Amino acid sequence: MCGISAVALKEGTVGSAIYDCLTKLEYRGYDSVGEATISNGELMIKKDKGKIAEVENELQLSQLPGLIGIGHTRWATHGAPSKENAHPHTDCKSTVAVVHNGIIENFLPLREELEMTGHILRSKTDTEIVAHLVEAELRSGKNFVESVRSAVKRLDGAYALAIICTAEPDKIVCVRKESPLVLGIGKDGNYCASDIPAFLSKTNRVILLEDGEIAVVTSNSVKILNIEDGIEIIREPFIVEWNVERAAKTGYAHFMLKEIHEQPLSVRNAARTHSMFLDLMAGEIMRAKKIFLVACGTSYHACLGAAYAFSTLAKLSVTPVVASEFTDMYGGLIDNATVVLAVSQSGETADTLSAVRGAKDRGAIILGITNAMGSSLTRLSNVYIGQNSGPEMGVAATKTFTAQYTVLVQLVIASARKRQVITKQELERLESALSQLPNSVSLSLLQEGRIIQIAERFIDKSSFCFLGRGINVATALEGRLKLLELSYLPAIAYPAGESKHGFISVVEQDYPVVFVAPRDETYTKIIGNIMEMKARGARIISLVDEQDKDVVNLSDETIKLPSGIPSALSPIVYVVPLQLLAYHMAVKKGNNPDFPRNLAKSVTVQ
Ligand code: F6R
Repeated sequence: MCGISAVALKEGTVGSAIYDCLTKLEYRGYDSVGEATISNGELMIKKDKGKIAEVENELQLSQLPGLIGIGHTRWATHGAPSKENAHPHTDCKSTVAVVHNGIIENFLPLREELEMTGHILRSKTDTEIVAHLVEAELRSGKNFVESVRSAVKRLDGAYALAIICTAEPDKIVCVRKESPLVLGIGKDGNYCASDIPAFLSKTNRVILLEDGEIAVVTSNSVKILNIEDGIEIIREPFIVEWNVERAAKTGYAHFMLKEIHEQPLSVRNAARTHSMFLDLMAGEIMRAKKIFLVACGTSYHACLGAAYAFSTLAKLSVTPVVASEFTDMYGGLIDNATVVLAVSQSGETADTLSAVRGAKDRGAIILGITNAMGSSLTRLSNVYIGQNSGPEMGVAATKTFTAQYTVLVQLVIASARKRQVITKQELERLESALSQLPNSVSLSLLQEGRIIQIAERFIDKSSFCFLGRGINVATALEGRLKLLELSYLPAIAYPAGESKHGFISVVEQDYPVVFVAPRDETYTKIIGNIMEMKARGARIISLVDEQDKDVVNLSDETIKLPSGIPSALSPIVYVVPLQLLAYHMAVKKGNNPDFPRNLAKSVTVQ
């Protein structure tokens, strides 16, 4: 996730107007920043690695002259944070400048094609190809808008783009496909940005750009066109009533709730992991004699689910280990035939890094999955992949779990394919379900009303238990972690089959037990576990397939989730109601879910 902004002013200095917008978008990313404006017919560009205020101190972005310009705050996906990878990116002759939020999936073949036809590309980003594609179209004689239309038709993936061009210096051309982009209609000029807070202090008259649309923005006008046929679309602005603080949460009461609701998009982005990186990792995994998955907290739960998927789908034995235990328990076994796959949202968790450093010293290959490109984990890894979910402001990890698991399950599929241990039909079924995942997560979010009722009914309970079987032991553990860290309740989680070996003595009349019970290979066994709890007076809250009857009949409360989700993908859909339950319980208890007591977003001490 990055933040983009574009401004066309009637008078004044556009550099400072863009800078102002960027400071409001910093929550979308903050590893590098840049601006480009047009002044006296020439492109002026300033950009560098660093936070917005640091780069402003160094380069005075806000003093860039001109009436028209674009800006970007970056959260690296392709290419580490650096000056050359910072946006805006330009064409060969610095006549076109582009800022981009999203992922261009086919950038490698397009890059090769551009290089073969003489274009010189300077960065490692997927974005730079857009400037060169537009340049090529301009050279063929098309005007600016038509050049952008032709260029973007060649892109696969997700993109919000803002582009300026010296040949038509009064225009910004903006394009949207699957990444957010909004227009602000102001008195002093017009605005375009990833999000409304960017320009809310200037105007509250807003137009949402839809997928497949181009906006041509000048200081006096905004014109929307359909990318495919170029036909104009008429859309009136609406008035936004939010204050700036609420707007930063796009209208949600807390960042955590916003981030829970962002998951259809973050899962879609995570599902776009390039096959080249997955193949590289799968190759290392195939060659290894011992494979460990190492992480803490929520990231560990994603690993736990993935270990189950590695075993059942890729027929590989991998060992998930809590990072703080790794060196003491397995340090002596590590050698150069070992792969350690470390998973960390921040890429800076001390326990994870210590395990990784110890393993690296003993010769292990380090693979990393993280949300922070340029973090210590990326620097220690032989191969790393971004989870691509953008900054997570809530201290409790939510979109992190679903994004990390989405990346991990793609790695499982890549390993299964490489090892030829999966049938073509099974592969096709998984890949099709993977492409449907954002939709399944959206359906899961529709259960929020039901979950609020459940939170109200159970608000006085002093403890909860979460049970699941198979891959959803991980989901149950994650549901427990969310509830206990936000509601401060001593919640319990177990593999459901293990619950009768001790936990069951805790159960008394009306004790709440949450079952994660999809209709998978564990279904009949979990029904037995539900009956055991029910017989002791427990109140059963179950997460079930929407076509379920048997578990529904045994439950006091049910949350219905979409049918047809393959077991290996079910944690992504089934964890969402548990995140919502934890959120609403915390709010009803008067706790701030964004800042649970005693916790830090990144735990950098061992
Ligand atoms: C739970 C939570 C923590 C983190 C853990 C690991 O909601 O946020 O348990 O998951 O501290 O953090 P990363 O993934 O940054 O290594």
